[in-house]
Amino acid sequence: MAVKSKSIRRIDAAIMQSLPVPVILVNRSREIVEYNEAAAPLLSAQPLNRDLALSLRHPKLLDAVDLVVAGSPMASGEFVIPAPFSQTFQFTVVSLKEKKSSEYARALLTLNDITSIRATEQMQADFVANVSHELRSPLSTLIGFIETLRGVGWGDDEARERFLAIMDTEAHRMKRLIDDLLSLSKVEVREHVRPSESVELGALLREVVDTFALRAEKKNMPLNLSLADDLPPIVGELDELAEVFTNLIDNALKYGHQGTPVQVAATPVAWVPYRGTGGVAVSVRNEGDGIAPEHIPRLTERFYRVDKGRSRDLGGTGLGLAIVKHIVNRHRGRLTVSSVEGKTTTFTVTLPARIGS
Ligand SMILES: Nc1ncnc2c1ncn2[C@@H]1O[C@H](COP(=O)(O)OP(=O)(O)OP(=O)(O)O)[C@@H](O)[C@H]1O
Ligand SMILES: [Mg+2]
Repeated sequence: MAVKSKSIRRIDAAIMQSLPVPVILVNRSREIVEYNEAAAPLLSAQPLNRDLALSLRHPKLLDAVDLVVAGSPMASGEFVIPAPFSQTFQFTVVSLKEKKSSEYARALLTLNDITSIRATEQMQADFVANVSHELRSPLSTLIGFIETLRGVGWGDDEARERFLAIMDTEAHRMKRLIDDLLSLSKVEVREHVRPSESVELGALLREVVDTFALRAEKKNMPLNLSLADDLPPIVGELDELAEVFTNLIDNALKYGHQGTPVQVAATPVAWVPYRGTGGVAVSVRNEGDGIAPEHIPRLTERFYRVDKGRSRDLGGTGLGLAIVKHIVNRHRGRLTVSSVEGKTTTFTVTLPARIGS
């Protein structure tokens, strides 16, 4: 957008237009006398020679501009634009050299979109709050039982055994949480490094399924594995992929109804989305309450649980699928979830085959 104005020289105008950040010049009446292309989407349709407040009605910003127009050398701050989607801007207003005519620019306003910085900060704060909360509850239970054991529980053998069993469960919950957090931070760090091993998924799935045999039997849930004959080897890291299928089968046994089967199946696929190569799809299906559609997009968020209480009672911390997502991303694969409420839930991981296989 070429914005004509007498207020700045042509070269200045060219520089201003090419800046990737929004820049706006206002005169002593707070009217916009110049703005660059990056600023255009933030302003009203005909912003020139009109009060800045008609375009950006944010008290902090307008106060800062008024202050600078009145003689202050500089003012800065932040404001949030709520619609169409929330954006946070940091602004700086600096005073320009005094000119006689009122139409000349008096203040230069630059904006910096810091939405993603604020979102990251919020995520970090939420993460710390979640971790603290998750560690605090088992720790409080442990402290409570230690006090009880030292007091009234000391002479009562039966109570002592019961309390120790609860303390054992809570201590293991804390250990699991810390192990999961370490796993998560390890895969996050390596997410941009491509794995290079060649992995036979059939053998890996057999091993993982075997580790669950006893648990499946206890819950009376037949755990079936079906492997296609012609599975190509895929590019991956064995331990990480074992973690993926362990988490998915753990969930299927945890959230599936007692007495219903869990089906693990691996089939070759002709095309892995976004990769353009063939690959292998591994699905883990269970029968149970299922997952309502509004929860599905959020399942891979750290600490997200559909029913916090229930999942916690089952020993879950809500990190399993977050770990799965990061590992699958690192493998340039894809994770999909489909669920029919009250019937079945299927998690499918599609992984690209080794090129040339
Ligand atoms: N097969 C499933 N059927 C129904 N709900 C599921 C299934 N798998 C996952 N979920 C839901 O997704 C949530 C997140 O799963 P995730 O594996 O990340 O956490 P978790 O199982 O609660 O804890 P963790 O895996 O860290 O021990 C679960 O709390 C549960 O509500
Ligand atoms: Mg889980």
